[in-house]
Amino acid sequence: MFVQATMDRDALEEALNSAYFKHKGIYFIAHNTSPGVIDDIEHMEIRDDDVFLVTYLKSGTVWTQQILSLIFNEGHRNGTEQVENIDRVPWIEYNVMNMDYKSRPSPRLFSSHLPYYLMPRDLKYRMGKILYVCRNPKDVIVSYYHFNKMFPFLKYTMDWETFFDVFLSGRVTGGSWFDHVRGWYTHKEDFNILIVTYEEMKKDLRSAVKKICKFMGVNLEEKAIDTVVERATFKNMKRDPLANYEFMPNEILDKTKGNFLRKGTVGDWKNIMTVAQSEKIDEIYKEKMGDLPINFLWDLNEETAS
Ligand code: A3P
Repeated sequence: MFVQATMDRDALEEALNSAYFKHKGIYFIAHNTSPGVIDDIEHMEIRDDDVFLVTYLKSGTVWTQQILSLIFNEGHRNGTEQVENIDRVPWIEYNVMNMDYKSRPSPRLFSSHLPYYLMPRDLKYRMGKILYVCRNPKDVIVSYYHFNKMFPFLKYTMDWETFFDVFLSGRVTGGSWFDHVRGWYTHKEDFNILIVTYEEMKKDLRSAVKKICKFMGVNLEEKAIDTVVERATFKNMKRDPLANYEFMPNEILDKTKGNFLRKGTVGDWKNIMTVAQSEKIDEIYKEKMGDLPINFLWDLNEETAS
């Protein structure tokens, strides 16, 4: 029994070591980037109208990519341009499409999972705009657990208990959820930033879209707002080939093992998390985030945020 457990731990350790590398306190996907790429990001030249969508993984990135694409690209809104979201809002640390970011026309839209201290230096002079989207950690961990099964570079299938521990140790792409959200929240004054929660988008998407438009300085007519909202619902995104990530090759995202757009709800953690696990997160949350005036909704049926 003991020997088996040790062997499993060794195999997990080996799989984590070959899928990820650690750089400046954070784990990255080894297949898609390198320490050099991460270091260069600091010197990326920023234009004043650049927009960065920043998230911890599984917090609604693809959803917000769709929203930003629809807000900024009329051709996406009226269906005249067939461009996938990853091409419209590419990742700065994972340039999987090998794009030349310097030659992209303005306004450039980018995505990132980076912590605040690895972002382009110019952003800290309040150039560009950052939209930071965060989601309650209980739903993030559950979403991440399911997503991991689709992640072909990790040659080890973790059961829920194992993933729970690995996640809390921060040994996942993006590092610790608590450090990421806390870091961005406590440094928000250094950036030109709007912070939005997944749960508020879920609760009232139209208001969230309007808030984002206002921050971005984009004035859309009510009818155009209607289209953004309509095309950004979970149901519609799930069948939108430009938005649902079905176009990703199985070598990068194995769609035989699940759906990227899985459930899209608030409170799914209740279906898998034990009471002890939930209490453990509450405890860590209180310790690491308790002093911040940030509110997450843990279930859409509960109106009291905590
Ligand atoms: P679930 O796994 O809980 O369903 P990211 O894009 O940051 O990886 O986040 C993925 C999560 O966002 C998934 O959560 C996915 O279903 C959810 N999501 C994507 N589009 C959504 C939408 N239009 N509405 C609600 N949730 C959405």
